Amino acid sequence: MSKQREIKTVGLIGSGMIGGTVARLAIAAGYDVVLSNSRGPETLADLVKELGQHACAGSPSEAAAAGDVVVVTVPLRAYNSVPVAPLQGKLVIDTNNYYPHRDGHFAELDNASTTVSELLQKHLPTAKVVKVFNNIYFKHLLALARPTGAADRTALPLAGDDAEAKALITAFLDRLGYDVVDAGTLADSWRFERDMPAYAVPYFDKSGAAPAAGVPNGAPADVAAIRAALAAAPSRSAS
Ligand SMILES: NC(=O)c1ccc[n+]([C@@H]2O[C@H](COP(=O)([O-])OP(=O)(O)OC[C@H]3O[C@@H](n4cnc5c(N)ncnc54)[C@H](OP(=O)(O)O)[C@@H]3O)[C@@H](O)[C@H]2O)c1
Repeated sequence: MSKQREIKTVGLIGSGMIGGTVARLAIAAGYDVVLSNSRGPETLADLVKELGQHACAGSPSEAAAAGDVVVVTVPLRAYNSVPVAPLQGKLVIDTNNYYPHRDGHFAELDNASTTVSELLQKHLPTAKVVKVFNNIYFKHLLALARPTGAADRTALPLAGDDAEAKALITAFLDRLGYDVVDAGTLADSWRFERDMPAYAVPYFDKSGAAPAAGVPNGAPADVAAIRAALAAAPSRSAS
């Protein structure tokens, strides 16, 4: 990990709602991005065009090889198709959530013996996996980014087993427009997974304003709000 290069290029395995949003924020912050999906780079031509000259598309293996940090942002059911060899030793961000109706049942998640991101870490044993971006609706992620020091800055919880990787991702998030709350290890990351108080709701507007479409409008949530939401997590139990 001490050989980790400065982050210049962000690889994306998955370029949908959350992957496309992280790509937009990364381009705005001055990074290059390499997008990928399951259907091939030609299907990402419109998004590449929209993002401009600092974006291109490739296969998942090419995006993994190109990224100084690689964001895995596919439906959980596809996590074990993420290429292992090009991610050896790399900094990897995991945005994934477990929705059994979408992903099928995973016994080890249903019985609470592991976490979503521990599954990815097991699949990528030498990568440095950091969980972040999973707890915020993609439209809120785009709308709530603010420059460093802004009074209305929002915080995201992050978890990982490698302190240096967490520090690098914290600096990356600062450039993208977010403060960070360290929520512990990958084993602790259930604290900001689905149905927990730190999941999605802290970023909902509570003013009573009518939402634009279905989901409440986004509103900033600072470090104190995210710490409080993490602390309010009930004990973890099997579902
Ligand atoms: N949507 C949100 O607001 C949000 C927020 C936080 C976290 N998340 C989580 O982030 C993950 C991604 O969610 P999303 O909403 O962005 O999903 P999405 O819009 O459905 O996008 C999924 C992306 O993954 C790609 N993909 C699927 N299987 C793949 C594979 N085997 N190899 C490479 N790429 C593959 C898809 O490409 P193709 O279209 O070519 O198959 C698509 O680009 C999920 O775990 C979700 O729960 C979502």
